[in-house]
Amino acid sequence: MKLHIINGPNLNLLGSREPDTYGNTSFEEHFLKLQFSFRETELSYFQSNIEGEIIDEIQRADKLFDGIILNAAAYTHTSIGIGDAVKAISAAVVEVHISNTFSRESFRHTSYISSNAKGVIIGFGLQSYDLAIQSFLLKK
Ligand code: DQA
Repeated sequence: MKLHIINGPNLNLLGSREPDTYGNTSFEEHFLKLQFSFRETELSYFQSNIEGEIIDEIQRADKLFDGIILNAAAYTHTSIGIGDAVKAISAAVVEVHISNTFSRESFRHTSYISSNAKGVIIGFGLQSYDLAIQSFLLKK
């Protein structure tokens, strides 16, 4: 099983950014834990602060991976282009968020991704990524 994580804007600052909301762990540190916890799964990740690069990466990842785990961060709530990219590909996409976006500002309650995602995991801290990986490993 090959899964690819795509992280959007400002997620390169995890660990130092708004620690009350996002915790003290960098994504690099958490990624090492994911690789340890899911040794049978081939994991990779990509991060960009640029909308078009995220769209290019979603298109590139289609056909190369069994699934995509997408945290489009703020673009979740604004980007029709990223939503359309998720719709355009055949790979399954699981949308994740670290924070519970529904307990935050109302502009975070809209997602242009959810309607075309296989599923959505929201609000479990960095363990949202663990749960997303587990969702791909569930027996059909
Ligand atoms: C986020 C939630 C978004 O509203 C926010 O803009 C982010 C991170 C999360 O993982 O909780 O940057 O996607």
